[in-house]
Amino acid sequence: MTRKMHLNLFIQSRGHHEAAWRHPKSSKLPLTDIAYSVEMTQKAEAGLFDSVFFADVLGLWNDVATTPFNWLEPITTLAALAMATKRIGLIATASTTYTEAYNLARQFCSIDHISRGRVGWNIVTTWSPQAAGNFGGIGEVGHEERYQRAEEYMAVVRALWDSWADDAVLDDRAGGRYADPRRVRPINHAGKYYKVKGPLNLPRSPQGRPVFVQAGSSDTGKRFAARHAEAVFTAHLEKATAKAFYDDLKTLVAAEGRDPAQVLILPGFSPIIGSTEAEARRFSDALNALSDPEVGRNRLSLRFGGADFSHLPLDRPLVPEDFPDPKTNEAARSRTEVIVGFVREHHPTLRQLLAKLAGARGHFVFEGTPEQVADLMEDWVSGGVADGFNLMPPVLPDMLDVFIAEVVPILQRRGLFRNEYEGETLRAHFGLARPAM
Ligand SMILES: Cc1cc2nc3c(=O)[nH]c(=O)nc-3n(C[C@H](O)[C@H](O)[C@H](O)COP(=O)(O)O)c2cc1C
Repeated sequence: MTRKMHLNLFIQSRGHHEAAWRHPKSSKLPLTDIAYSVEMTQKAEAGLFDSVFFADVLGLWNDVATTPFNWLEPITTLAALAMATKRIGLIATASTTYTEAYNLARQFCSIDHISRGRVGWNIVTTWSPQAAGNFGGIGEVGHEERYQRAEEYMAVVRALWDSWADDAVLDDRAGGRYADPRRVRPINHAGKYYKVKGPLNLPRSPQGRPVFVQAGSSDTGKRFAARHAEAVFTAHLEKATAKAFYDDLKTLVAAEGRDPAQVLILPGFSPIIGSTEAEARRFSDALNALSDPEVGRNRLSLRFGGADFSHLPLDRPLVPEDFPDPKTNEAARSRTEVIVGFVREHHPTLRQLLAKLAGARGHFVFEGTPEQVADLMEDWVSGGVADGFNLMPPVLPDMLDVFIAEVVPILQRRGLFRNEYEGETLRAHFGLARPAM
């Protein structure tokens, strides 16, 4: 039997290309208008996507003069989207380092109730120095320690979500008993980083707990994903590194005693689709013509924790020594490893590298016809490179519309994608078991 793929829509700015917000075919709505997120999510639901996803950073880290890299707060956004949709899964990012565990557990439990079981949590440990600057009490926490804290954090939030048994609420009007107190337990957690008594002040959620999504790709991040994640986002510029990541993570999952089929790997994918290859290329050229290499240089510097690249000429081939060693990067280690690996392999000039990264910040960009896009997706899924994709349209809504109208039907004809929603919850769409207490 052909294996069906999973599709998540990553909604950010007016599309994932750096210049999407200026493109004539991107949405005219203000980015702060909830109607924009509603429209994109309803389109994805009509296209039978498993879910939509919103990233988050806890500080203003872009250059506001040139980059609209900001958005409505994701958890409150999900609440609005839950009321405007019926079936599609809703995934928001929230930080273990900078959110009290009790608040996070309560908010996601609430959204799972509000959406009737459609929520997922993208677990991030947060790497931006700008965030550290906004949370003076905690300050900047190093890479290893962030993951140590996150490990304890997971124990706390899991316990809070399990603090009400499934059958705790009786709601017995005649007998005058609302809940069975023996089925609602404090958690009494007292660890190195957190002291949380519990229980949560909300009954257990429809999915038991949110679906755990994760996107750390460093060794520490992958081990964390292997222990906790049920879906994993990952960024690759090349199929070979995506394949290596897939094999590595599935092996780590098995080593944790978990079923590798219960952890979906969804690499970022940004297709530029045209009715001919030449048309796709023209679309891509028009986007690149709207990009400014100096905006890209600034973004590259942020990626590398603020490293200074101002001295690098635009047109000389790069070498890995032009970059700080990713191992010393306390920020987002894995993406910097992808970038330095690409430089080692291909020696692009800075101008070429920035054009590559402008497409989707280091995710896989592909130009082609609908058939070619579908072929690539089939090749990755049948070849054990991906369980599906984190779709990152270069321009929203235009390239999403084209994908849904032209590519989804091909995937359906080939038996690679659903023809209708079969379940009601995000767990059901992802084929994940309901967690036991
Ligand atoms: C598709 C995708 C989405 C991500 N979204 C966020 C996000 O919203 N907020 C964030 O702080 N990091 C985000 N990240 C970064 C990762 O969660 C992770 O923090 C980063 O890769 C650093 O972890 P590492 O050092 O283990 O790689 C994202 C990564 C990917 C691939």
